[in-house]
Amino acid sequence: MSREFSFELLGENGAARRGVVHTARGDIRTPAFMPVGTLGTVKAMYLDQVRDAGADIILGNTYHLMLRPGAERVARLGGLHEFIRWPHPILTDSGGFQVMSLSGLRTMSEKGVTFQSHIDGSRHEMTPERSIEIQGLLGSDIQMQLDECVALPADPDAIRRAMELSVRWAERCKTAFGNQPSRAMFGIVQGGDDARLRETSAKALTALDLKGYAIGGLAVGEPQDVMLAVLDATCPLLPGDKPRYLMGVGTPQDILRSVARGIDMFDCVMPTRSGRHGLAFTRRGRVNLKNARHAEDLRPLDEESDCPAARDYSRAYLHHLVRSGEALGGMLLSWNNVAYYQQLMQGIREAIEAENFPEFSARTESEWERGDL
Ligand code: GUN
Repeated sequence: MSREFSFELLGENGAARRGVVHTARGDIRTPAFMPVGTLGTVKAMYLDQVRDAGADIILGNTYHLMLRPGAERVARLGGLHEFIRWPHPILTDSGGFQVMSLSGLRTMSEKGVTFQSHIDGSRHEMTPERSIEIQGLLGSDIQMQLDECVALPADPDAIRRAMELSVRWAERCKTAFGNQPSRAMFGIVQGGDDARLRETSAKALTALDLKGYAIGGLAVGEPQDVMLAVLDATCPLLPGDKPRYLMGVGTPQDILRSVARGIDMFDCVMPTRSGRHGLAFTRRGRVNLKNARHAEDLRPLDEESDCPAARDYSRAYLHHLVRSGEALGGMLLSWNNVAYYQQLMQGIREAIEAENFPEFSARTESEWERGDL
């Protein structure tokens, strides 16, 4: 655990960046996509498959893990990495967003948020200090500040108040985190769809000199052009020598368009959740395996993929598994999708290195549109 956390910028192509986040548990090649392992599991996948697909880092959730099995228990069991058998980097979200989207009765105050567990209705308090304490007990390599995220569309006053509270909570999280050279605590820019509020937030957080900056409050139901406009307004204000993480995003197209604006890290449940619902992401676009047109289609999802789920199983079999509600259907499609996302990120990284990211991006989007049937 001796290596210091740092970010190395290796190259740029327009606003797109190629880099490496160095952590004590290994390097994260950026732009990076982090599969979501909310409860200490990337749903329906072995972590060996996640690793072999090319993931350098996965995400865990403070909110879920504090409720079950409990942060102190995970610490007694040797920490999250040991518990789940993933020795590589883990980023944990702070809980702010999940409290808003999942928990029952909530009360917000300057001090923090009290909420009711979605599991058993028990009451809990989450403060910036407790969120950082929990993320420390889990052993997280990249910890997120506690923030307040409002769902869009929202009243401008409510957006401003949540943004200002989030800045104050970032300061408290920074103090609680203290001096831990091998780990990082990232701030989260809030401010909804208002470019001026985003600017205020980005400047205030930059003044705190944090080790990385996330952009939150997006992918909450707004159209893509609103999200991209927020990135256009925010990315140029963030320090160039720190990683930038767009939280909860997104589709492959969202990722291409956000990388073009200077985002380095992403996470999203889309590859795994869609996989469990019968949807495959491929080089040639999305394939809905529920559809009857696949019932006698012997072709694999992608004969050229390195991923066995994409290469070795017929669409007919995948269709049968999905239609029958068999667990293996969700397992194979999650595997295919996580592998596709990682192949996309590898393509993005190579294109930025070769300084042909705009061409790569246009070609990739046109291949999705062409389809494969
Ligand atoms: N995940 C997706 N969006 C957000 C956000 O705004 N804040 C946090 N903490 N997590 C997120």
